[in-house]
Amino acid sequence: MRSVQLGISRQALHHNLQVVRDAAPYSRVLAMVKADAYGHGAQVVAETLAEADGFGVAFLDEALSLRAAGIQRPIVILEGVFSDMEMFEAVRQRLAVVVHQEEQIAFLENCKLTGPVDVWLKIDTGMHRLGFSPEAAVTAYRRIRAARLVGEIGLLTHFSAADELDSVQTEKQIGRFRGLQQVLSRHGERPLQDSLANSAAILAWPASHGAWVRPGIMLYGCSPFADRTAEELGLRPVMTLTSRLISVRHIKKGEAIGYGGAWVAPRDTRIGVVAVGYGDGYPRHARNGTPVLVGGHSVPLVGRVSMDMITVDIGDLPVGIGEHCVLWGEGLAADVVAAHAGTISYELFCKITNRVRREVW
Ligand SMILES: Cc1ncc(COP(=O)(O)O)c(C=O)c1O
Repeated sequence: MRSVQLGISRQALHHNLQVVRDAAPYSRVLAMVKADAYGHGAQVVAETLAEADGFGVAFLDEALSLRAAGIQRPIVILEGVFSDMEMFEAVRQRLAVVVHQEEQIAFLENCKLTGPVDVWLKIDTGMHRLGFSPEAAVTAYRRIRAARLVGEIGLLTHFSAADELDSVQTEKQIGRFRGLQQVLSRHGERPLQDSLANSAAILAWPASHGAWVRPGIMLYGCSPFADRTAEELGLRPVMTLTSRLISVRHIKKGEAIGYGGAWVAPRDTRIGVVAVGYGDGYPRHARNGTPVLVGGHSVPLVGRVSMDMITVDIGDLPVGIGEHCVLWGEGLAADVVAAHAGTISYELFCKITNRVRREVW
């Protein structure tokens, strides 16, 4: 049996949710489970985090899969719906929808069901990706309020740089959002719910917490900041990717390893071959020196990552064929591996492929 395995720790998930609660004690928690819970398995995560107040997905099908799996808690579709049919289905399945453009208000107005459906009106406070400008939001809000089947309406925005602690961008975005809330209340409209904060804002911008926070990466045990480790933030890794050494070779100083001979041995050494590659989701762009734990020792990746294998310099460490290896997770932060591959942990997690066996602890 192939040795690559992905372990998911339910305990770590519970623990990280508690870190969210400690940081934002007055907010409800919409746990982000989009993209198959950042590659961790949306059903497993949603079942495990039964204590979350709701779940966030990107699009309708992700929400329907969770409902089909028996998840009954509130679910918010962050990109909203894209047709009357999708709106119909969302209402039927008691899904809350984000509305970020005029077309989506029309779906609410045209839907034949009687509802009610909860709506999050998305405000573009500076990300400039999705949402109504604060100036257009009052009209949009009133149109939504007038639609027959609408239940509760909330206001939502997303930060573009909450991980940059010395940037003024987040304060500006919070200011625009709060300003709009005041304008709405002067018009006699007072949205009950608001939601601004992703993981970085939960940890760094308490003024943004509001009624609901939307943690993603911190639930999975990674740091949203480039200069603070997950461990420093009290987070525990949820996903651990492991494999084994399938071969050990002695090589001479000056010999080149793997495709393109991208690493040349600076001394006589031993090379361990680990059964994992980009075919499993290990990043092909991981550089020479990317750490791998072999039998508990941190050793450097050497040579190019191939589809099914990577090579590591094990020198004279007392490790041999069959040795347990950790690619990331417990003992080796995914953030560190991601940095060596020029990416972020989010992408590492999402790229795990189907051939990797999964186990939930
Ligand atoms: C709208 C929205 N809210 C919250 C999050 C969670 O962000 P993070 O994983 O950085 O906590 C995301 C993730 O991309 C998002 O798109």
